[in-house]
Amino acid sequence: MSGTASVKLADRMSKLGTETAFDVLVRARALEAEGKHVIHLQLGEPDFDTPSHIVDAAVDALRSGDTHYTPTAGIPTLRQAIADYTSETRGVAFSPDQVVVTPGGKPIMFFVVLALAGEGDEVVYPDPGFPIYQSVVNFAGAVPIPLELKEEHGFGFSPDQIRSLVNDKTKLVIINSPHNPTGGMVSEESLEELARLAVKHDFMVLTDEIYSRIAYDHDGVPTSISTFPGMAERTIILDGFSKTFAMTGWRLGYGVMPRTLADQVTRLAVNCNSCTPGFVQQAGLAALTGPQEPVDEMVAEFRRRRDTVVAGLNEIPGISCIEPAGAFYVFPNITGLGRDSDTVANDLMYDGHVALVSGTSFGPAGEGYIRISYANSMANLTDALRRIRETVGRLY
Ligand SMILES: Cc1ncc(COP(=O)(O)O)c(C=O)c1O
Repeated sequence: MSGTASVKLADRMSKLGTETAFDVLVRARALEAEGKHVIHLQLGEPDFDTPSHIVDAAVDALRSGDTHYTPTAGIPTLRQAIADYTSETRGVAFSPDQVVVTPGGKPIMFFVVLALAGEGDEVVYPDPGFPIYQSVVNFAGAVPIPLELKEEHGFGFSPDQIRSLVNDKTKLVIINSPHNPTGGMVSEESLEELARLAVKHDFMVLTDEIYSRIAYDHDGVPTSISTFPGMAERTIILDGFSKTFAMTGWRLGYGVMPRTLADQVTRLAVNCNSCTPGFVQQAGLAALTGPQEPVDEMVAEFRRRRDTVVAGLNEIPGISCIEPAGAFYVFPNITGLGRDSDTVANDLMYDGHVALVSGTSFGPAGEGYIRISYANSMANLTDALRRIRETVGRLY
């Protein structure tokens, strides 16, 4: 009974994409099973432990019986803490009934796109970009419109570019700053123009700010599009705990959005996951209201690693790398190697035993680039740079 011939999938499944970083992990694990030592630079997760006061809050909650269902949109104390945190960091007043807590930030993409975009609606999304955006836009039956992020704009986009892509059919524009896979950021000038266009054409903006605390040139969180005139009622802020507090495996994220949309997103959540575990939400409360030094220390370490990785890559003939302003990725240009991105990523995996992701995994505009996550120890990063230099010297 192991055959698949009798499984007749719904047509819509052919529209759903995936996230290749997880496939790369599987291939790296297969090499490891053969006894090879692989350096993992493919996954977007901090290599730090979750700070201990956050772990303690979850353990205390579990021990005191917090093992039951919670309200779908989140426990009131966490929704309040998220509303306060988001209001303070973005400078716009948000109330707890605008907050929906989810198992990770990812469901916010799925729920928001399903709630807003239907057949024929246009949704603009970044290319290269987090692959799930395009996947869910397709799945929803909407029309995906790629917004090409170019190296010459620091992997942001220009006001002219966004102006040329939106119109009265645009339902939603998705932006992500600091950005995965490039570490780039959207300029304030482009945010301002996007906000003006959102009001003019009456569309909404899903701003994925999951890396907002990992922005090297900012003391606090960078300017959010929600602060521009008319945007508070048109913005969905996606944020979460995975990256900022090294909590990827806990599955805790949230969206902050207009109340009417929050009600609909909650309706999708009750149809899907019912709620987010209570003890995990207690951990999130401790993360937001407790000491922030562990976050600052982690970001300072990421900055040191970024500087080492950028300098090391720029010393390799055929590779050039601009300095990213945020997140924990670099997106080096490998066109000087004379091979396409998939070939380079494969060669680095099977010859150098360095696992990383081809730029094309993030969209066609990622051709000519590879993504390296520097969420790994300085020792491993230094070793990976050596391996990359040697593989490139040997094969090309
Ligand atoms: C741009 C971006 N948004 C959202 C997420 C989702 O994070 P999570 O679901 O772990 O909160 C990720 C994770 O890799 C990401 O890179």
